[in-house]
Amino acid sequence: MPHTQYARGRFLFGGDYNPEQWSRETWAEDIALMRRAKVNTVTIGVFSWAMLEPSEGEYDAAWLDDVIAGLDAAGIGFFLATPTASPPPWFTVAHPDALPIRADGTPVLHGSRDTYAISAPAYREAARRIARFLGERYGTHPGLRGWHIHNEYGTVDYGPHAARAFREWLRAKYGSIEALNTAWYTAFWSQRYREWDQILPPLQTQYLHNPAQLVDFRRFNSDEMLAAYGEQRSEIRATGSTAPMTTNFMLPTWNFLDQWSWSAEQEVVSIDHYLDTDGPDGETHVAYGSDLTRSWAGGPWLLMEQNATGIRVGEQTLVKQPDRMIRNSLGYIARGSQSSLFFQWRASAAGSELWHGALVPHAGADSRAFGAVVELGGILEKIAEVAAPPGDGVVVESDVAVVWDAEGWWSLETPHLPNDAITYSDEVRAAHRALWRGGHAVDFVAPGADVSRYRMLVVPALYAITAATVDWFEEYVRAGGHLVVTFATGLADENQRIVPGGYPGMLRDLLGIRGEQILPRADGDMVPLSNGMTGGSWTELLHAETADVVARYESGPLAGVPAITRRELGEGSATYVSTKLEQESLDAFLAGVASTAGVEAVFPESRAFGVEAIRRRGAEGDYLFLLHHGERPVRVDGEGVDLITGAVDGVVLQPGAVAVIREGSAAWSIAAAS
Ligand code: GAL
Repeated sequence: MPHTQYARGRFLFGGDYNPEQWSRETWAEDIALMRRAKVNTVTIGVFSWAMLEPSEGEYDAAWLDDVIAGLDAAGIGFFLATPTASPPPWFTVAHPDALPIRADGTPVLHGSRDTYAISAPAYREAARRIARFLGERYGTHPGLRGWHIHNEYGTVDYGPHAARAFREWLRAKYGSIEALNTAWYTAFWSQRYREWDQILPPLQTQYLHNPAQLVDFRRFNSDEMLAAYGEQRSEIRATGSTAPMTTNFMLPTWNFLDQWSWSAEQEVVSIDHYLDTDGPDGETHVAYGSDLTRSWAGGPWLLMEQNATGIRVGEQTLVKQPDRMIRNSLGYIARGSQSSLFFQWRASAAGSELWHGALVPHAGADSRAFGAVVELGGILEKIAEVAAPPGDGVVVESDVAVVWDAEGWWSLETPHLPNDAITYSDEVRAAHRALWRGGHAVDFVAPGADVSRYRMLVVPALYAITAATVDWFEEYVRAGGHLVVTFATGLADENQRIVPGGYPGMLRDLLGIRGEQILPRADGDMVPLSNGMTGGSWTELLHAETADVVARYESGPLAGVPAITRRELGEGSATYVSTKLEQESLDAFLAGVASTAGVEAVFPESRAFGVEAIRRRGAEGDYLFLLHHGERPVRVDGEGVDLITGAVDGVVLQPGAVAVIREGSAAWSIAAAS
């Protein structure tokens, strides 16, 4: 639910602020520079535990009082983080049992960060205590924009505390040890358990783990971390603080949490997003992270961190050029972000991340990088009216959704599947990329969500599904939806058990097919299809039973065998793609289904010019965001005012530029400009 603090004509702009690394003279300069850049929000306290609680139960927050007073005097609001991602050395010395244990049984020691055993009572208690302290001291401060609980939950512990908590979780889930034995299929390899205490986390074993145990351990960890989050929330709420709460998720590839259940427990959903390439595909990454987070949130969300100047790729930190920093920032906002926040405000002079980018680089304010920050601050002020979210939470309207499911991801990560080179993340991203390239606005949905408003639903590589999900698909199709299911979906049930009788056991009837055998192919060993497309990695000896054949394999052992099928059912259709289509083929294939389903692109002509168009809904009307990723100037004509330049009914966009147009009703056209 959007909180009014994020609703009223203001984008939050700023980032993580770590004044404890700097002198008071620098603090004064920080405030002056923040004002110059129109920064209105910083996140403080993320790694301040050792400063705030120098020894157990002894607090020193006078310095933080001063920091907050300085911010307040300058009209700058703040997120206050609970510092529990980085316990101080005194804590681990006093509570060595609260150190996390790796799967190989070795302890992880302090000296970095994120060093905690999430189930250790001493850790949980210390985390509650510091949260309570902060709640009491700052919980009703008028400058408090929200609570930033912890930082990127994700340290997995395999030690004795985890074992105990895992067993409790299993007991609650299964009720009896017999039920667990059945669900885990412990008849295999003599794993039958007689007592709960015999069960371990999936520590290092001689050979493969039990897949059902692996997935349950992932489910348990997500729940356990959510319980820890909930405890901090309760402590803070008990102090009377009503400020909204969030915890920052990390990247779409961070798969320690079930973001759907986590998002339901937050007033505002936030994410940290770091590009994984300096190439053009980075733009699809921005869209991917944004669409996921908006979908988890069910509306507006917060970009809590991005890097202002750097893109870490392999062994190098490449430069994020100023125009890209601005374009990316507007890309997140176009897709529903209420903020443009960064890690971090000022580049550290030393410490583990001293070469990480920042709003104020090592060179200081007299720099191209800071110039771009000032420019962004100006733009955010000019487009502030966009920040008013509508009551119903929908900020980007889309006709197509992609199913995204953490449990499905965990299932596909269990070892020794037909092709372990297939990753869930890549498959979902490929589907999203194809739709992005088609110019479509895309939502993500959880299995079981209300999908009645989508004309098309894409289900990439959802290996394990429940019977309820099968019914949900069927209902969707019968009611007129167009379902596209890709290979490696529906092979197993939620206990990672294959449904026999032909693949994909869970979906055979709905899709009208029966697979006899899965034939994986080596990376790069492609296979042509009869419709001119190309597959690879995964192929199937497939029979079309009640489905029509859309394309067949053209060569190799499967020549003539159905590769893509389609079954009409009720008012809709269910399509199955039994191979991993090359990206260009997937682009074309999903474009074809979209056109049959009547899914329209936002501004179809713009793609050929390298212009990404996103429509964001505001309280008073629509805003068309145009992000020019192409290389030649273009002219875009239509009805509306560009909030950035003031241009009316048309803008010229130079390569790299952005427009945010308060739209009228006339259609848009695009042409090359000189
Ligand atoms: C984030 C983290 C920050 C900082 C940043 C560097 O994941 O929250 O504290 O480490 O990465 O990219």
